[in-house]
Amino acid sequence: MSAQMYENFKVNSSKVQYTDEEIISNYTYSTSKTSVVNGELIVEPVNTNYVFKTDRKVPKLGCMIVGLGGNNGTTVVAGVIANREGLCWKTKTGLQKPNYYGSVVMASTIKLGSDAEGRDSYVPLKSLLPMVHPNDIVFGGWDINNADLAEAMERAQVLEHDLQRQLVPHMKEIRPLPSIYFPDFIAANQKDRANNVLTGTKKEQMEQIRRDIREFKESNKLDKVIVLWSANTERFSSILPGANDTWENLQQSIERGDDEISPSTLFAVACILENTIYINGSPQNTFVPGVLDLAIQKNVPIAGDDFKTGQTKIKSVLTDFLVSAGIKPTSIVSYNHLGNNDGKNLSAPQQFRSKEITKSNVVDDMIASNSILYKEGEHPDHVIVIKYVPYVGDSKRAMDEYTSQIFMGGHNTIVIHNTCEDSLLAAPIILDLVILAEMCDRISLRLDTANEFITFHPVFSLLSYLLKAPLVPEKANVVNALFKQRAAIENIFKACVGLPPDNNMLLEQRI
Ligand SMILES: NC(=O)c1ccc[n+]([C@@H]2O[C@H](COP(=O)([O-])OP(=O)(O)OC[C@H]3O[C@@H](n4cnc5c(N)ncnc54)[C@H](O)[C@@H]3O)[C@@H](O)[C@H]2O)c1
Repeated sequence: MSAQMYENFKVNSSKVQYTDEEIISNYTYSTSKTSVVNGELIVEPVNTNYVFKTDRKVPKLGCMIVGLGGNNGTTVVAGVIANREGLCWKTKTGLQKPNYYGSVVMASTIKLGSDAEGRDSYVPLKSLLPMVHPNDIVFGGWDINNADLAEAMERAQVLEHDLQRQLVPHMKEIRPLPSIYFPDFIAANQKDRANNVLTGTKKEQMEQIRRDIREFKESNKLDKVIVLWSANTERFSSILPGANDTWENLQQSIERGDDEISPSTLFAVACILENTIYINGSPQNTFVPGVLDLAIQKNVPIAGDDFKTGQTKIKSVLTDFLVSAGIKPTSIVSYNHLGNNDGKNLSAPQQFRSKEITKSNVVDDMIASNSILYKEGEHPDHVIVIKYVPYVGDSKRAMDEYTSQIFMGGHNTIVIHNTCEDSLLAAPIILDLVILAEMCDRISLRLDTANEFITFHPVFSLLSYLLKAPLVPEKANVVNALFKQRAAIENIFKACVGLPPDNNMLLEQRI
């Protein structure tokens, strides 16, 4: 049966109202609650009535990238300009048009239902709710290197020459603002890049970042700004009682200029104080407890950590598949080599350690879900290696070996060789993070018996799909399995327009 694709849709239901400003949806959330009574598991279906409210006004959005002059920063800005200006470029195989492939918002579709003949109807995810279009985002940001974006794009060696040539007039107008640089947090091999740095005390530098955000917003007449860290991976910060364990202590620590406060933590604090969403695309623990405390107190959204692009994305699909098929992965070994500046920075042990940590926990929820295969506390061997090989540049090679136990003591080994053009994978994910974070910021909900609408918890866990080590609210479960993460986005957005989740039962076609 063929499927039909539509650009837009209307919901025909008395439970949804569209006004010029809002979409109001009355929604029954069906779930099951479990409890153990006298050693027996009791499962109870529960229905809860919610009212979702979505603000329909799409804001004029600015995105400030920390690490704007890096491979990701230049690729995302160049990609948006090429799409906006309709730049096409010659390659040895013909003319290439710009696109947004790799963006779940721009290039994936959602099934809304089936027609009388059983044909499925799809719309792009972007038309489910009124979302910012990437072409309309205004970009700016900071870098410790002063190269304009034309120079930085050339240095990145990501895009084809004929495209770069056409982008130069647009890119050379953009120059990163000076940034916060504490050499101790990134690899020593990055020192030569640092020619565009702020001076002054930690507090003064943080105040400068706050001013930069305000000025960017004012000068571009923006309704909203989102800041995203795509700068070098920092080493982990130690969590020190009395220094960064509460907002009060962190504030004093910043005043004193304590050594253990990282640049990324100062960026996060500056953003929260400016009521600006902050997203961490690198592995380090920017969100020390004092930052989390502040975000919760001020109810300013944050999300992290570490873009989920190549190897980890596959791992979060493949392990889910194996474990849910009743196959027992017993060893997962992942090698990477890459030759871009990210690889150079990660060749230092402390920065590698940050990456190793975010890459390590990505199968935990899947393992924990199946105690037929795994005893309490049992885990597959899981090893991660990253090497710097300059020649391969941005074209990262990821090699994985999954060994699993199968029926009657047999073994199954899957080997994957994945050539990941790293920044071309990361750029659409950066756009998704920004667009989805902005969208989530316009959704509120209440129990139908309550008067007040509430927003999502400021730790935006709905963005987990795009992040390697998802940060979730305290006591919430971390979900790494990719399709569960995607279903959460899809179903919550559907709920906003009064549509049920896709349950895949297809009853109408089975009876
Ligand atoms: N590309 C991917 O697929 C991917 C996936 C997951 C995570 N990441 C992470 O994204 C980050 C960026 O990756 P990239 O390939 O663009 O790296 P890159 O080295 O090309 O770019 C990083 C940029 O950050 C700048 N920088 C360093 N410290 C800074 C600071 N304190 N303030 C402002 N700028 C600073 C550098 O000068 C550089 O221009 C890395 O941490 C990487 O681990 C990338």
